Amino acid sequence: MLVAASLAWYLWQEKHEVEETARKEALATLDRDNAYRQWLVDQGGVYVRPSEKTPGDPYLVHPLKNVATTGGQPLTLLNPAFVLREVQSRLVDPSRGRARIVSLTPLNPQNTADAWERKELDSLASGQDRVEVVTGADGTYLRALRPFFVASGCLPCHTAYKEGDIAGAISTSVPLAPYQAINRKTVQGIAFSHGVIWLVGLAGIGAAYRRGRQHAAAQREWAASVANMNAELECRVAVRTEELTRALAELESFSYSVSHDLRAPLRALNGYAHLLKEAQGEALDPEQQRMLDRIGHNAEKMGQLIDDMLDYARTARAAMKKEAIPLKPMAEALVRELSEPHPGARLDIADLPTAEGDPVMVRQIFANLIANALKFSAGRDAPAITIGATVEDGMVHCFVRDNGAGFDMAYAGKLFHLFQRLHREPEFPGTGVGLAIVKRIVERHGGRVWAEAAPAAGATFHFTLPLHKG
Ligand code: HEC
Repeated sequence: MLVAASLAWYLWQEKHEVEETARKEALATLDRDNAYRQWLVDQGGVYVRPSEKTPGDPYLVHPLKNVATTGGQPLTLLNPAFVLREVQSRLVDPSRGRARIVSLTPLNPQNTADAWERKELDSLASGQDRVEVVTGADGTYLRALRPFFVASGCLPCHTAYKEGDIAGAISTSVPLAPYQAINRKTVQGIAFSHGVIWLVGLAGIGAAYRRGRQHAAAQREWAASVANMNAELECRVAVRTEELTRALAELESFSYSVSHDLRAPLRALNGYAHLLKEAQGEALDPEQQRMLDRIGHNAEKMGQLIDDMLDYARTARAAMKKEAIPLKPMAEALVRELSEPHPGARLDIADLPTAEGDPVMVRQIFANLIANALKFSAGRDAPAITIGATVEDGMVHCFVRDNGAGFDMAYAGKLFHLFQRLHREPEFPGTGVGLAIVKRIVERHGGRVWAEAAPAAGATFHFTLPLHKG
């Protein structure tokens, strides 16, 4: 487009150039011939010796038309228009740079104005000294004329005019063909050079386009290979995850069945210890009886441990429901049930929102935390337990606070690990599984669990669960 615009501009410029040059030539011709003729008018015409070529001025009417020198040489008066014509007849190329003198009412019929000249002369107001330049209707020549006004010097020969009249004009016509020929060559040169520029530009654009496409193709290839690698990686991750899940499931079911199978021998152990004590109670001395009691007690403890482990394993395996759980009634029911053996404890339950999750599992969380709170505050004069909740970022944030034994925050990290216990056995019995179960359930719900405490200053257990919406 740029090349086309440049070409158009040059072509327009060139066309203009042709007209401009022709115009200059026309005006120069008019000016020169008029100056020449003006000099002749100023002389009042010129006398020449009559010859074969110029026998006399046929249209001149003048009292001193034919005179003779004192030596007897005859002289004849020539008018300016005649002389101009005579001079011009000697031009090498008569088609160029030639002006003629015309009028609407000529003395010489040869000087009759043509259609264009007549039109121009008609339109001229007297006193107006104007040069008209137009391009010929067919575009092959350019014309110009300059009007003549009658002055006193004209009157001796043009008796019909009075001063100020428009007697006629000097007129010229310049053919455009020679300029157009030059112009054509220039135009060809311009067109050729523009063509070359256009082609080079096209080649450049083509090359850039090809390079762009190659680049894009390379980029696509690269993106595809990255996507491939990603897909492969994801596939590998999926396979590993699957393997891992299967291994974990196998491990869980293994430990489940082991735990399960341990119960029967344990029951037998306990049962036989009882039977032995009942049957041989009298025969045994107190030390032996205590040993039997120990066997029974430890078997029971081991049974408890196994039960807790089975619970723990179950929380991982059980399919999870997703239901609305109104927490307050659930907590109230649990408190009623669990606080029975602790008549001195005060339990406050604030307003609790409705969470979303598996009701059985969530109930387990509250059960374990409330049981812990009761256990660790039992030694206080006035055990007090508070259960409350807030809603933060679409999650229910619950806490269970007690004023019991508390613990050192240095061990807070261990708290939720399986079989981790921060307190001694006889005072606070337990297997160290309850909090691990709580952590597992909370995390299966997408929540978080943590604790705050200080030794002998009570503990607060926090956990979050998804909020039920709507
Ligand atoms: C010496 C006499 C003479 C003088 C001076 C003279 N002319 Fe002419 N002029 C003639 C003659 C004769 C012709 C016609 C002859 C011809 O075409 O050969 C003529 C032709 C013309 C023509 C062409 C039309 C036609 O009539 O054929 C014009 C226009 C013209 N004169 C204008 C003037 C003007 C304007 C002046 C004064 C500034 C002037 N002339 C001075 C004698 C004169």
